[in-house]
Amino acid sequence: MKHNPICVALDLSDRAEIMALVEALDTSIGTLKVGLTAFTSCGPELVSELAQTADVFLDLKLHDIPVQVAGAVAAAEALGPRFLTVHASGGRAMLEAAAEAADEMEILAVTVLTSLGGEDLADIGMDGSASDQVARLAELALSAGVAGLVCSPLEVEMLRTHFGPVSAGGPVLVVPGIRPRGSARGDQRRTMTPSEALRAGADHIVIGRPITGAADPLATAREILADVSGGAGF
Ligand code: C5P
Repeated sequence: MKHNPICVALDLSDRAEIMALVEALDTSIGTLKVGLTAFTSCGPELVSELAQTADVFLDLKLHDIPVQVAGAVAAAEALGPRFLTVHASGGRAMLEAAAEAADEMEILAVTVLTSLGGEDLADIGMDGSASDQVARLAELALSAGVAGLVCSPLEVEMLRTHFGPVSAGGPVLVVPGIRPRGSARGDQRRTMTPSEALRAGADHIVIGRPITGAADPLATAREILADVSGGAGF
């Protein structure tokens, strides 16, 4: 079975709806992402339940003092997810504390949110380009020991070229801001289609609303999968 790169963002607040969606999507997805909406509404038990049968990406985007983050990482590990996010902008000590507190779980550092465009970055005092900021944060996070990075599709190629493939010790690249042709961009700013992002070097592509908001989520997930696998299936 080939690696299924599709990660579905379960950004819903109702547990029953989430479980129904997971059941409907079945094996057409590789990873389930539990983010702040689902985690805050349904609690940690949702993560342990989903982790019994699937790879779970717990997207809490932690950003706090090192001791707090280390505590949260250890508590999250007990729930059994494969991935957990922290913000790279939390700084070296926080990133090192997260990487040290994780055992089997892979820590991913979020570089710059895919919802931020140039003006938003200027508003928060980042005067350089998004890609310069991503490169700086990626260097920091990887040297602090994290396993991978969350970045927009527009930076994947640059990061892959610079840090190399996973098979040669390069970072796992997890990429949101994915929009199949014809779907609404919503609040995302720096986007690409699923196959463009994978060609650029993404390992996992995160897709939320284009699948969860579709009239038929399973059919949509299968279409995306067929598209990215060139019809080969997984
Ligand atoms: O619905 P949509 O496809 O835009 O969902 C994207 C998901 O990826 C959301 O769950 C969001 O929290 C997450 N994400 C993101 N940008 C990042 C990191 C995570 O959009 N930099």
